[in-house]
Amino acid sequence: MIKWENSKYGPKTRKFLSKPPQDFPLFTLLDGAVRSGKTLNIIQKIPQIFEFTGSEYLKVFSGYSRNSVKNNVLTELKPFIENYLGGTVKYNASTGEMEIKLFGKHYDCYVTGGGKSDSVNAIQGSTWDFWYANELPRHNYAFYNMALSRLTPECARAFADSNPESSNHWLYQEKILPYLNGDEKVREIFEYWHFTMHDNANLSDVFIQNQEKLYKGAFKKRKIDGLWVIAEGLVYDTFSLDKHTISDYALAEKIRNNEITEYFLGVDWGWNHPTVCLLLGADCSGLCYVIDELCSVKIDADGVIKWINQKQNEYGKFFSYANCDNARPEQNEKLRRYTNLVIYEEKPKVEDSISLVRSLINYDRLIVSNKCMHTLDEFGLYRYADENADCPLKCNDDCMDALRYGLYRHLTQR
Ligand SMILES: Nc1ncnc2c1ncn2[C@@H]1O[C@H](COP(=O)(O)OP(=O)(O)OP(=O)(O)O)[C@@H](O)[C@H]1O
Ligand SMILES: [Mg+2]
Repeated sequence: MIKWENSKYGPKTRKFLSKPPQDFPLFTLLDGAVRSGKTLNIIQKIPQIFEFTGSEYLKVFSGYSRNSVKNNVLTELKPFIENYLGGTVKYNASTGEMEIKLFGKHYDCYVTGGGKSDSVNAIQGSTWDFWYANELPRHNYAFYNMALSRLTPECARAFADSNPESSNHWLYQEKILPYLNGDEKVREIFEYWHFTMHDNANLSDVFIQNQEKLYKGAFKKRKIDGLWVIAEGLVYDTFSLDKHTISDYALAEKIRNNEITEYFLGVDWGWNHPTVCLLLGADCSGLCYVIDELCSVKIDADGVIKWINQKQNEYGKFFSYANCDNARPEQNEKLRRYTNLVIYEEKPKVEDSISLVRSLINYDRLIVSNKCMHTLDEFGLYRYADENADCPLKCNDDCMDALRYGLYRHLTQR
């Protein structure tokens, strides 16, 4: 717990803390290096913002999960309000409801996780006048948009903190980059504060030097220098195991509830290299799923046909088509003859199909079942040789190719 009476403040922190609530736009982001004071600066600002917004509407605290809000935010917010300001904080960890009493007012608050593809369901339909997003880039894109749309009162204010992620990330592309380029429309509603460890006067030089030793390469640039950069050569560097996977169990439930409306496949032929057949799905909101994978060496058309038929039985669904690697026309012909699927052999250009897949991931629209082990491995391995290469290295690409084929056909057919 922080001993606030010993706090030290550098110039940027002082400027942030002394800025009156009414002078902030709707949405303010504090980003930058680890340990630079972003979270504690927002915590200290909260009483003043609450006083300004009043207690008419709901106040929402979100993080990757409800528990991460508790650990990162409430552990400091509660003692700050109770021990230093004479208020009370009552938090129900199972429902997320939280009541804060401060300076004679009652504030109804709600704590929720925003990191998963279905997090948005918990926040539909109410009006908020305050939102604090802890570690905003780890929120799901649909949740973020829904949250912003809840903030309709004129006095509503949102604050978020973040460590930098990939420069492909939606937060960078939609807010930070336009802000830095002076985009007037963005600047009307969005303000950007960048902090380094040197802006946190509570850290010792030795501590900062030790932190600097913890990270290397792109992660050093992000965590220490606070820059939004692409991870060293990874093709899908915004893919996150936290945000972009779903348990086998949860996905099976979506399938049972008919939430997934279309089933299709991507096939990459191999022999000494693995043959990969990915079962993909899409729902009516535009989310795409990787539902199941066949990934094995020395499997030909017969093995794939068997797998497809078996999976149609297992899931109780008909698959509509497969888009297959065109290098093995005789195998594709067999698929055409012995399955009920339409078989396409459209080999998309590598760069084009990668950019389609990348934008699905950047906007949190691709969700992979955690049972697709080979596919998940390749997301972490599929990379470019160097910064100037147009095409990725031809290794760790078997599932990634099958994914490109299937998704390219799906995304370009409309
Ligand atoms: N006002 C303050 N008074 C005392 N210590 C502070 C204060 N602000 C920051 N610190 C110290 O700096 C540390 C980092 O602050 P904080 O957690 O707010 O940083 P952060 O930028 O949110 O870091 P991260 O990126 O790791 O989430 C705190 O754990 C605390 O030790
Ligand atoms: Mg923090």
